[in-house]
Amino acid sequence: MAGMAEEQQDVGLNLAPEARGTMAERRGLGPRPTEVSTPVATPARAGKPLISRRVFVLGGFWTALGLALLGIFGPQLDFLYPRRVRGFGGPVPVPKSAIPEPGGEPVRIFEGRFWLVHLQPGVTPNGEETQGGVLALWWKCPHLGCTVPWRPDFVFMGRKGWFRCPCHGSTYTKEGGVLVFGPAPRSMDTFPIEVKEDGSIVVLTGPNNARMGGKDNPARAVRLPGFQYG
Ligand code: FES
Repeated sequence: MAGMAEEQQDVGLNLAPEARGTMAERRGLGPRPTEVSTPVATPARAGKPLISRRVFVLGGFWTALGLALLGIFGPQLDFLYPRRVRGFGGPVPVPKSAIPEPGGEPVRIFEGRFWLVHLQPGVTPNGEETQGGVLALWWKCPHLGCTVPWRPDFVFMGRKGWFRCPCHGSTYTKEGGVLVFGPAPRSMDTFPIEVKEDGSIVVLTGPNNARMGGKDNPARAVRLPGFQYG
């Protein structure tokens, strides 16, 4: 009876044959299809890695090797890298105000480890000739390396004021650090001096710049502008 009623309803609606069916089928309540086509999920293709394993391993190896070499040779390279040396071992500037007058007391320049003496021209009490000027005497004793002090009150050979080493007694003249007594093999070593336009000087210090001391030390004196000699 229900089928007849639905047919009558279809006829009444004047539906196309293919659109006809039971009301239950049209409402999706009819018999279900026996086979359902379910799409099979396929795994996505793995993308190409940004760094291959080979590159990764090689990169790690070279990086480790580079760090090892840097650790071994780094300190040596750092030592060889040229730098502007300041203080002892390089140029040490001395302002004009720090330079003693000719014939005055020696001045100690800590930064450059030298005594600055200023000679009057003529013949020194020890018999050396000099044109006068400044001398930079390295305060390292040529015997065994003790620091040589200036002894203004020390009397020796009838004169007062000497450079005298406290270690073994080597004694040097005020007028050029010439050796007069003791086990030292030579006079005090000297450093070269550059004269600037403003009256200041620059002393080139360090073992590489030192000139071996000798009886000619007073002749190495450098005359300076702006000072009275004689
Ligand atoms: S170290 Fe100066 S006299 Fe020996």
